Amino acid sequence: MITYVVTGGAGFIGANFIHYLFKTYDDDVRVINIDCLTYAGNLHNLKACEAHPNYRFIKADICDSETLLKELKDESIDYFINFAAESHVDRSILGSGPFVQTNIVGTQRLLDLARTLDVKRYVQVSTDEVYGDLDETGFFVEDTPIQPNSPYSASKAAGDLLVRSYYETHKMPVVITRCSNNYGPYQFPEKLIPLMISNALEGKSLPIYGTGTNVRDWIYVEDHCRGVDMAARKGVLGTVYNFGGDSERTNLDVVKWILKSLDKPESLMEYVEDRKGHDFRYAIDFSKAKAELGWKPSVDFETGMERTIAWYLDNRSWWECIKSGDYQAYYEKMYGKKVGKLDE
Ligand code: NAD
Ligand code: DAU
Repeated sequence: MITYVVTGGAGFIGANFIHYLFKTYDDDVRVINIDCLTYAGNLHNLKACEAHPNYRFIKADICDSETLLKELKDESIDYFINFAAESHVDRSILGSGPFVQTNIVGTQRLLDLARTLDVKRYVQVSTDEVYGDLDETGFFVEDTPIQPNSPYSASKAAGDLLVRSYYETHKMPVVITRCSNNYGPYQFPEKLIPLMISNALEGKSLPIYGTGTNVRDWIYVEDHCRGVDMAARKGVLGTVYNFGGDSERTNLDVVKWILKSLDKPESLMEYVEDRKGHDFRYAIDFSKAKAELGWKPSVDFETGMERTIAWYLDNRSWWECIKSGDYQAYYEKMYGKKVGKLDE
């Protein structure tokens, strides 16, 4: 029996990761999910796992070392996977405090905790955004210099550097993963793809930042989850693995694809003020993960998007519930000044 501790397991990728573990290993794994349930954490994402005898949920902040030590001291932990983070670039532009607290201080607390608990492997789930951005050419490789441009990516980069330092200083068994833009079920509707799908279904305008020509490399979330698991099990300690979807698209390509698939008019698109410090392009070279882990993405953009749109159509109450709560205040603050006419 292999025991995973997953932090941030009630969020988008963390929840998909827990589903992936039970689907792949069933009774051969135990999963302990630690999440403090910020606006982005949602226990509905894990309804299907709740009854599993090998699943345990602990509601706690990753900065709260005392509680975590008390809860985990008797556990024998194989893989400790840190997904917990403040993850939205736009929110980090509105205010960076929570990003510094969770993504930097939280990472430091988890590293000390994981050392005390003597975990077999600690995996830091990071992002390609730590590398900054690219022009039309080139790819991020694992030793591309760290040059983050947003408070979000700067806080993730600081977390990565702490992880690296614990390897160099304490010989702690760590691996860092850096992935491109994920999409799929359970993604909070503040991020591009779920925001555009849900706005289109509600007949609302679709806010396109700037010219819409920025490029992202889209990866279906389950491919990322498989990569994180492979890095935990087989990754070379003290090193970084990049994961990408081999699916570069401009934002306009993505939004038009969604509108076409939902049979909605392009007139719903509304060009709005650009994001401050908006990274132009991300593109991932994942040849190291391919060579060392035998990993490559298995779901192409069209298939992944069809699955994703089907999920948002089938789970309308999931996102309608989110969009009817505090999220509305964020949307007004974020888009109120950008969009000419806000939808009621
Ligand atoms: P998310 O915002 O959907 O979920 C984050 C989860 O962490 C939530 O459940 C939240 O409640 C929890 N959390 C936040 N602060 C916490 C704290 N202090 N203590 C305990 N729990 C806390 O994020 P996501 O998109 O699922 O991203 C997960 C991780 O993957 C993040 O580290 C992110 O940087 C990284 N990542 C995301 C993407 C992407 O495209 N979404 C790509 C590459 C890497
Ligand atoms: O690259 C990995 C990163 O991808 C992760 O580390 C982050 O956690 C994740 O949020 C994501 O960051 P992005 O900033 O690339 O994702 P987002 O979905 O916010 O935006 C994608 C692109 O779409 C970006 O160019 C900005 C644009 N955009 C976004 C929103 C929310 C719009 O044009 N309009 C919008 O309303």
